[in-house]
Amino acid sequence: MTRHLTSLYDLNSNELQELLATAADLKSKYKSGERPQLLPGRVLAQLFEKPSLRTRNSFEAAIVNLGGAGIFLTTAEAGLNGRESLKDVATVLSSYSDVITMRTFSHQLIEQFAEFSSCPVINALSDERHPCQALTDLLTIQETRGELRGTHLVFVGDGNNVAMSLAIAAAMTGMKFTLAVPAGYEMPAAFLSDLTQRYPKADVDQVPDPKQAVTSADIVYTDVWASMGQEEDSERRKKAFGAFQVNADLMKLAPSDAKFMHDLPAKRGLEVTDEVMDGGQSIVYQQAENRMHIARGLFAWLLVK
Ligand code: CP
Ligand code: NVA
Repeated sequence: MTRHLTSLYDLNSNELQELLATAADLKSKYKSGERPQLLPGRVLAQLFEKPSLRTRNSFEAAIVNLGGAGIFLTTAEAGLNGRESLKDVATVLSSYSDVITMRTFSHQLIEQFAEFSSCPVINALSDERHPCQALTDLLTIQETRGELRGTHLVFVGDGNNVAMSLAIAAAMTGMKFTLAVPAGYEMPAAFLSDLTQRYPKADVDQVPDPKQAVTSADIVYTDVWASMGQEEDSERRKKAFGAFQVNADLMKLAPSDAKFMHDLPAKRGLEVTDEVMDGGQSIVYQQAENRMHIARGLFAWLLVK
């Protein structure tokens, strides 16, 4: 059966650990100048309907430095704008490719595409999930703290795709996840009940007060207040999230060894200040670099038999 990664739910906890170990091993080889050509001649196709700096380019860099090559096309160029059916696009494109990454608005579109694809399909961000970001964040936290279990990740902001994927990641690895969120922007109740059904020991909660939430944080995490596609709602969101900015005053309430993370792109001056982004507790660039190491680990884990 073709394996896909549309959500972290496509992995079990052991597979997730295996994948992290593969990425960590390839990263340490990469740092000592070794680029094992594990996937010579393999083709990655990337199908995106939203912009991307990290995801698109880290995936392409990853396939190239494993010995393969990448093709990039927008969903419109691929014909998903009504030029032909989803089945026809997925069947044909997957016949040219060894792995496909997709960035879409609709999460269901990735799931439906995967059903017709003869090669693995990886979610490169949808409105509901961002699994490769969450995998990257796990690798980064593991590097920083030495372990995941017991880590308290406090996400200050919107209950969005990144927050939901981190909540799943936390449940799968024994981390505690707290979302500090204004009323009306929480993670959906149906998502939470599904999560606790799958992972009954999940330690996930949502609270209204960021100041209280960060007092026990090992990681303070934030993301944009308006995700791609929500630009028209930006002004309303700026008001709703005004008290949820991660700034030096908020970081002072967290333990002094707490780290700051952001998946990027950041809106400096809104959800986070320059002082925090560029401060000593910030690990955002290590996190961004790790997108590529996770991509290499993921390709190797999925495709090297
Ligand atoms: N973090 C992330 O997915 O960044 P891009 O939108 O630039 O890919
Ligand atoms: N929540 C953001 C993440 C960007 C990487 C968005 O969906 O736009």
